[in-house]
Amino acid sequence: MSDLRIVAIPGSLRKASFNRGLLVAAQEILSGRAEVELVSLADIPLYNDDVRALGYPEPVASLRDAVERADALLIGATEYNFGPSGVLKNAIDWASRPPGPPLAGKPYGLVGASTGGFGTVRSQLQLRQVLLFVQALGYPGSLHVSGAAALFDEDGKLIDEQTRQSLSDFLDGFLAFLERVRAGE
Ligand SMILES: Cc1cc2nc3c(=O)[nH]c(=O)nc-3n(C[C@H](O)[C@H](O)[C@H](O)COP(=O)(O)O)c2cc1C
Repeated sequence: MSDLRIVAIPGSLRKASFNRGLLVAAQEILSGRAEVELVSLADIPLYNDDVRALGYPEPVASLRDAVERADALLIGATEYNFGPSGVLKNAIDWASRPPGPPLAGKPYGLVGASTGGFGTVRSQLQLRQVLLFVQALGYPGSLHVSGAAALFDEDGKLIDEQTRQSLSDFLDGFLAFLERVRAGE
């Protein structure tokens, strides 16, 4: 399944983001099995429907295009105040609008790391609710990495082998899910 294209979206703008670190590790783990393109939400403006009516700004058009072309999305579900980060929700709002919209029917998987004890579980649940409305197709498996400060280095690289193995197991399940989606099961 090496022609599989996955767009990885971190919910954080932080350079050493743990959630970005998880996606980079996923890119390494999936090497040879899927092409994982890591995008940044740094240039995505705040959603404004007046702006949308005039035409999508370039960074938004580029994100929408990446989502459109992807076979699947892998989202790093940064959790702020028991919910997804604003930048992530904002990006989803942009990608949920016509034409298309790019998120409709798009398979996705959620992973997340937080410094707290619940590994973004609340952010992920809220994201599933939001993505249900836009009719994206969620992989039911999940990965919750808690106590992240001890598992990543100062650059945000995943350094914990047990977490890397859990991520690898999650990705095996995610790819099997994507194969089933492809087969129309
Ligand atoms: C505004 C804010 C709110 C936060 N709220 C939560 C929270 O609800 N649950 C949690 O586990 N961690 C929370 N944290 C800690 C984050 O897990 C931590 O900052 C983490 O590094 C953010 O993800 P990132 O590494 O991808 O940037 C919060 C951090 C900030 C800055």
